[in-house]
Amino acid sequence: MTQADTEIVRGERFAFGANWARFLKSLDEARIAKAEDSLRQMLAVARLDGKRFLDVGSGSGLFSLAARRMGAQVHSFDYDPRSVACTRELRDRYFPGDSVWRVEQGSVLDRDYLAGLGEFDVVYSWGVLHHTGAMWQAMENVVPLVVRGGGCLFCPLRRSGPQIAPLGVDQARL
Ligand SMILES: C[S@@+](CC[C@H](N)C(=O)[O-])C[C@H]1O[C@@H](n2cnc3c(N)ncnc32)[C@H](O)[C@@H]1O
Repeated sequence: MTQADTEIVRGERFAFGANWARFLKSLDEARIAKAEDSLRQMLAVARLDGKRFLDVGSGSGLFSLAARRMGAQVHSFDYDPRSVACTRELRDRYFPGDSVWRVEQGSVLDRDYLAGLGEFDVVYSWGVLHHTGAMWQAMENVVPLVVRGGGCLFCPLRRSGPQIAPLGVDQARL
């Protein structure tokens, strides 16, 4: 049993991975296209050819897939092994044998892990950092991974009525 599994059993962590597995069964082209559109809008670019995209807490892997379809080299990681498996499944389904989409298990709170990743044109972390229990530390850890002139898209989620609103989104200049 991994540390993430132990935390789920203790009720300290939500079992995102099980949710993602259900999500993948219903994933279709329309949903993927919508994810691509949202990245295009947030980043204000049409394509990401040759850009390095880091997906911190990739969850299902949907936004990693969207970035890869837009031409980016993608590195996805998540703390939850089931989320990692979902992201891998997406990669293998849509980009089998791909050498420029890496998927790993890792934590945004693990500075040694982050130190080995290199730098990225876009660091994307949507709905993740507030789940770490150390949101500001997590933010501080990933900011140095962005190249000069690159961009971060952080969105800790805040519920306000029926809406889910983004907080502190920094537009990428690409
Ligand atoms: C709400 S989901 C968001 C997934 C994805 N970013 C998206 O937009 O669909 C939160 C994800 O953060 C991951 N996570 C939680 N703590 C983490 C940590 N310390 N390091 C990396 N990922 C983490 C969870 O396992 C989960 O997959």
